[in-house]
Amino acid sequence: MFEIKNITMIYDMEKAEKVYALGGFDLTLPDKGLIGIIGPSGSGKSTLMYCLSTLKKPTDGQILYNGKNLTSLKDSERENLRRNEFGFVFQRHFLVPYMSAVDNVTVAAAKNDKETTEQAKRLLSGFGLGEKEWNKRPAKLSGGQRQRTAIARAMINQPKVLFADEPTAALDHENAFAVMEILKDYAKKHLVLIITHDRSILKDADRIIELWDGNISAIKGGDTV
Ligand SMILES: Nc1ncnc2c1ncn2[C@@H]1O[C@H](COP(=O)(O)OP(=O)(O)OP(=O)(O)O)[C@@H](O)[C@H]1O
Ligand SMILES: [Mg+2]
Repeated sequence: MFEIKNITMIYDMEKAEKVYALGGFDLTLPDKGLIGIIGPSGSGKSTLMYCLSTLKKPTDGQILYNGKNLTSLKDSERENLRRNEFGFVFQRHFLVPYMSAVDNVTVAAAKNDKETTEQAKRLLSGFGLGEKEWNKRPAKLSGGQRQRTAIARAMINQPKVLFADEPTAALDHENAFAVMEILKDYAKKHLVLIITHDRSILKDADRIIELWDGNISAIKGGDTV
């Protein structure tokens, strides 16, 4: 669970023009569920996600993750947390071009043994990529298949929190829907945080957080903070 207090992010600190990407708000996020983050371009969605996932350090404020203060962790502790508990899906899949679909999934696994390979195949099959696709390189897969492979990679270590920044933006409606079904299912037991411009894919979200100019303008569904 995340407890966020007064989270503030200012870019270009040394310049006269300061950008308040996050304006200093509080927010609590539960252990599981599908949480959507929505808002116009530049409203701070990615910045919030990068701060929560320790990829960026906020200028001010506190982020507690299961009672641990993320902003005071050492770099190595942050890396371990990301590796062991967090998974990431981005708008672009960032698959390794010369590796097969299966190898792209196992590449980030904590262990790389036979069981991991089997697990990767099970994940891919569950996402509609059968034996035919397992040995294909990303260039030979469709856009939707590539993104589902990227999601399998993000899930191979069974992260407690899955961060997804516009995971469906490059997909057509049908593939976006398939990806959302996968994320919704994962959110039954884990926390899935998903940034999107497309409100329609969040129809089953447990909570929708709306950002506007670096602040929360509305929270819909679930318990409010
Ligand atoms: N590395 C950076 N250096 C300086 N300013 C930045 C940087 N990254 C983001 N910003 C600024 O911070 C604000 C929030 O950006 P952020 O990327 O979080 O927005 P966003 O909601 O994810 O937008 P989008 O929907 O376009 O991805 C914007 O004004 C942006 O210009
Ligand atoms: Mg963004």
